[in-house]
Amino acid sequence: MSVAKKQYKRITTKSLVEMKANGEKISMLTAYDYTMAKIVDGAGIDVILVGDSASNVMAGHETTLPITLDEMIYHASSVVRAVERSLVVVDLPFGSYQSDPKEALRSAIRIMKESGGHSIKVEGGKEIKESIKRILNAGIPVMGHLGLTPQSIYKFGTYTVRAKEEEEAEKLLEDALMLERLGCFALVLEKVPAALAEKVAKSISIPVIGIGAGSGVDGQVLVTHDMLGMTHEFHPRFLRRYLDLYSEMTTAFESYISDVKSKDFPSEKEQY
Ligand code: KIV
Repeated sequence: MSVAKKQYKRITTKSLVEMKANGEKISMLTAYDYTMAKIVDGAGIDVILVGDSASNVMAGHETTLPITLDEMIYHASSVVRAVERSLVVVDLPFGSYQSDPKEALRSAIRIMKESGGHSIKVEGGKEIKESIKRILNAGIPVMGHLGLTPQSIYKFGTYTVRAKEEEEAEKLLEDALMLERLGCFALVLEKVPAALAEKVAKSISIPVIGIGAGSGVDGQVLVTHDMLGMTHEFHPRFLRRYLDLYSEMTTAFESYISDVKSKDFPSEKEQY
């Protein structure tokens, strides 16, 4: 059992800052539904992210852009009903916070009120500073997200590693310092060079949670369906697969089909 599982009955934003101060790494995974969230929470994960990756994983969209605020609230409320211990972070979807700070606050309030989530996550730095300030002023905890920010995929053009050039790396560090100053409780760094991620983590006191950002950060996040091997066509270098569920599930489904066709299922013991 992890130190955190023994020590914390419920994970709060404060617990995460304490974990960083104590050198305990933070574990984070995604969940979008009740059943998965129950298993992930029961295993002792520190943070559950109701990510807008639900747009890809659950709905089959090519990007995270199409998912709506109502859909995020549906996913988040299903997760919240399952969770007993983890901190639940919910992504504000594309289009729900970029246009103006008042709309950003309205969207964050809807997430908190209608889903029961514990905090929200937004992508970006100084461009969305006023929105972050307004959400924080309302008492809603905010997690930042820098580096590869999939909601801006059409600006970047590709999902390759970000901030390899000095200018972009400097902006990223400035944005991280700004997010800390504003009062964000943590920050996700996605697909950036490990040395830069470590530098950011050492420069700020709030936890930095990496995905494709190396081992020098304060915690790690993966998309659960990827680490379980359900999304078998996706294999970036940073992804460690803990199961090959795609193959295992396919074998199970094939056995079921065969049992039905051959009249082996149901047997006498499996009927009334
Ligand atoms: O939506 C998501 O799953 C995310 C993670 C990749 C960090 O933002």
